[in-house]
Amino acid sequence: MSITDTTLNAERIASALEARHIGWKVYHHPLLSSTMDEAHRLAQAGTPELTAVVADEQTAGRGRLNRRWWSPAGDNLLLSLILRPPLSPSQAHRLTMACSLGICDAVGRVSGLRAQVKWPNDLLIGGRKLCGILTELEMTGEQLDYAIVGIGLNVNADLRDAPPLLAPATSMLMEAGHEFSRLEVLVTVLEELERRYRALCAGQTFHHEWAERMVTLGQHVQVREGTTVQSGTAVGVDKDGALLLRDDDGILHRVLVGDVTLHTRG
Ligand code: BTN
Repeated sequence: MSITDTTLNAERIASALEARHIGWKVYHHPLLSSTMDEAHRLAQAGTPELTAVVADEQTAGRGRLNRRWWSPAGDNLLLSLILRPPLSPSQAHRLTMACSLGICDAVGRVSGLRAQVKWPNDLLIGGRKLCGILTELEMTGEQLDYAIVGIGLNVNADLRDAPPLLAPATSMLMEAGHEFSRLEVLVTVLEELERRYRALCAGQTFHHEWAERMVTLGQHVQVREGTTVQSGTAVGVDKDGALLLRDDDGILHRVLVGDVTLHTRG
């Protein structure tokens, strides 16, 4: 089925999901502060997993490290997923890896574009950010109660108008030269996410596939966390999503958090 209109509403989403036998329940809102907050509210009220909250516009969209997520109203996909994976908190990055690969699959299916991944959780095309993923966990002690995976996928925005100081960004429109049906993209994203999520819950790991898509694989990078900077060659990720960095003395480091930049050696 091909869906051409870019407008989203609850009825159109529900009938497209039903037509493709996709198991998600989707709540659509024209405007929210952040889909993350609404998804946490629903999850805490006992909403089952495979529920997604979608908004056309956010007044307080957020990214990693308390950054703002900017997206013009009605152009892109802004959604948060409620998931309850059988993972320990230290394995939670497996979920982000599964979701990022699911989004790459969906973008490829809808547009033919090949997105790459940037550790820990960005999708890039041509070095520009196409999609950001934010995973927030709710835990009781060492037990993972639920995870909210927030996805900001740039679909139809012309980001040459983006506010200055944002990281270089791109969109499916900018890469392909034409608009996409947000409904088609949403439904395909949910379909691919469900496939990856079920595989994850069945015990599959994705680190080899993830490393193959990694934009910095084999490159010399710097990883910054606060004032700490580590540098070395990015040689892969392990099954729990830690970045494997080989320093100049050949020692392998397992990096759990940080921001990666390419390091040009002087
Ligand atoms: C990042 O790149 O730092 C992650 C960005 C995640 C943005 C999405 S947009 C939908 C959801 N709601 C939010 O407030 N944030 C996520």
